[in-house]
Amino acid sequence: MIIEFNIIKKHTIILLIIISFFACNSDNSSFSNDIIDKKVDSLLNIMTLDEKIGQMNQYNGFWDITGPSPKNGQAKNKYQNLKNGLVGSMLNVRGVDEITALQKIAVEETRLGIPLIIGNDVIHGYKTISPIPLAEAASWDLKEIENSAKIAAIEASAAGTNWTFAPMVDISRDARWGRVMEGAGEDPFLGSLIAVARIKGFQGEDLSKHNTIAATAKHLAAYGFSESGKDYNTVDISKNTLYNIVFPPFIASINQGVKSVMNSFNELDGIPATGNFFLQRTLLKGEWNFDGFVVSDWGSIREMIPHGYARDADHATEIAIEAGSDMDMESNLYVNKLKKLVELGKVDISLINDAVSRILRVKFELGLFDDPYRYLNSKREKELINHPNHHKAVLEMAKKSIVLLKNENQLLPLKKTNQSIALIGALANDNNSPLGNWRPSSDNNTAVTVLDGMKKYPNNKLIYKKGADVILNKGGVVKFAEKIMINENDKSGFNAARIAARTADVVVMVLGEDGFQSGEGRSRAQIDIPGVQQELLEEIFKINKNIVLVLMNGRPLNINWADKNIPAIVEAWQLGSQTGNAIAQVLYGDYNPSGKLPMSFPRSVGQIPIYYNHKNTGRPGPKNIVFWSHYNDELNSPLYPFGYGLSYTTFNYSNLKMDSKVLNFKSSINISVDIQNTGNFKGKEVVQLYIKDRFASVTRPIKELKGFDLVELDIGETKTIKFQINESLLRFYSKNEVWESEPGFFDFYIGTDSNATLKNSFELIK
Ligand code: BGC
Repeated sequence: MIIEFNIIKKHTIILLIIISFFACNSDNSSFSNDIIDKKVDSLLNIMTLDEKIGQMNQYNGFWDITGPSPKNGQAKNKYQNLKNGLVGSMLNVRGVDEITALQKIAVEETRLGIPLIIGNDVIHGYKTISPIPLAEAASWDLKEIENSAKIAAIEASAAGTNWTFAPMVDISRDARWGRVMEGAGEDPFLGSLIAVARIKGFQGEDLSKHNTIAATAKHLAAYGFSESGKDYNTVDISKNTLYNIVFPPFIASINQGVKSVMNSFNELDGIPATGNFFLQRTLLKGEWNFDGFVVSDWGSIREMIPHGYARDADHATEIAIEAGSDMDMESNLYVNKLKKLVELGKVDISLINDAVSRILRVKFELGLFDDPYRYLNSKREKELINHPNHHKAVLEMAKKSIVLLKNENQLLPLKKTNQSIALIGALANDNNSPLGNWRPSSDNNTAVTVLDGMKKYPNNKLIYKKGADVILNKGGVVKFAEKIMINENDKSGFNAARIAARTADVVVMVLGEDGFQSGEGRSRAQIDIPGVQQELLEEIFKINKNIVLVLMNGRPLNINWADKNIPAIVEAWQLGSQTGNAIAQVLYGDYNPSGKLPMSFPRSVGQIPIYYNHKNTGRPGPKNIVFWSHYNDELNSPLYPFGYGLSYTTFNYSNLKMDSKVLNFKSSINISVDIQNTGNFKGKEVVQLYIKDRFASVTRPIKELKGFDLVELDIGETKTIKFQINESLLRFYSKNEVWESEPGFFDFYIGTDSNATLKNSFELIK
């Protein structure tokens, strides 16, 4: 198709291209993929090199709704680039007004009128905030997790965002790393299913709908394995772990059709991920067949200079594009350096064409060329942001995310009448921390506090005392990049808390981390309950032993003392907007907790990295001698294992059956187990299946999660739960460097957590 674009008004060109293929539109997806490819090609043909590079440039917000921000020194320059068609995407711009103003410039003032794609970190909600991703993972409820992502997409898209930098699919075994809050924990099987659920929720069935958004699987790869849990640190990981633990959630995301992948800050085998050809081209775009685009992480192209991998800015640019990073997030290098590199013959134009095609394809799929203002409707924004139905849904998600860690003498659920309850802890009256740290679009101080949630049960006497602040930052509200000042000394509130506790039937203590103690750049070397809170807990315990400890935190904490002494412990993470209601409903038994830990809780920092699916070693012990794999001053086991979580009721597992002890490559084994609710409450249980490969060409974990089922049982009810094992479930990355299973003997275990003991075995034969 030949278009003389100098005589046709800009934007009309794009429309012409679209219209020329419009008539052929079809529901058949491979056919419509073809059409999109043709549209992309036609557009690419008429783009100048500058315009192409512009599509690969993403700027952070520099716009104050009406114009370039006076606070941002580079704003004028960025604005000029936007007008010149040198910006393909923006992040951190929010709301219909602001985004419309920007989109108008892209569409109506640039030569070709190519719309911007607007990305934001919609990690666990937009305005209505759901639990942090690690908490959601504790629900093991894939439908609910999908729905939570869907609601985030509905709100974000109503406010102009059409692309989220989520889900983070990094597996991590290190609670010191602040970003464990953003992932799904330590297990690749659960992590892959949750990644898929989140992508389904964000992207829906049809990406071109105005209420679905493109998702990003991040960070490729192994960012969760930063040495010593320190953010941005070096990663040194084996191929075995990389393939069997780190890659599966990425592969699952790509198979689910995720539209973008973000690379990571860390190096891998001495090569920063952003400049890693093997990761981005050989694997992602090659073997894994990914047809979306790669966005760099923030400034990660430029960071290859301090990494010592790029000589200078030109070199970093060259490395990044060659390695397969398609869009530059805020290094400002592609826009400034790429053209010269192409002209000098250092970067091949085919690499640019490929990157731009990938980006344009997603823009077409989002429907941005049909209507660049598709996501920009003020009425919808007003109607949908903070919609009551969204709050209802995040409340459900929040209740399902809570994990009951301990409940001696059935202290929980609390009685609803004639009780005197002392509620203690600054976090109990904190409406900001429960929102977590990774929710840049939400409003501060908007969570329902535990105090407010508890007040909804009016037939008890409730006294609240703070006891001690968690942090000393002014006003208790921390800014995204601000350092936290922990309260290490101020115990002036202890006395009032002691007095309240003295006469209470039950003391509920809400302790843990400030919302900004976890997240990016928020690694901790100690993972205790921070500041004077531990001392407060011990002081109150001297006065009243009937304590329910509610933990609010973004990572597994070291709670050894509490585990030994406190009768009831509830892991409540950071549960988002509806935190207080969710916690109160669980404490009062209106919701019976069913969450299970997606990450092991260590007994001490010295055990980290700690994870259930470890290898056996040559000296697994335990023996009564020194020379086996253990600590001299600590147990090997975690305080609470992966998959662990109690209920107000009890469950009994029995009657494990299997229909064959032999499996071949075409057959399957059907397993069943009976589970009975033997307690006094209706309740839900996550029935878990683990498999151990006894012997293989490379060493295999002592067990691996391979199935689970979330079941609800009435009091006294028994259900038979079925699992099916087939060969594909047994595949791993083998000595032959392929995904395959190997004939031999396998054990399997079924039960309530990763210590499951009901056991049998089978043989896989060719
Ligand atoms: C983070 C990414 C995030 C990006 C944009 C980076 O610092 O590592 O996960 O999406 O910033 O906010």
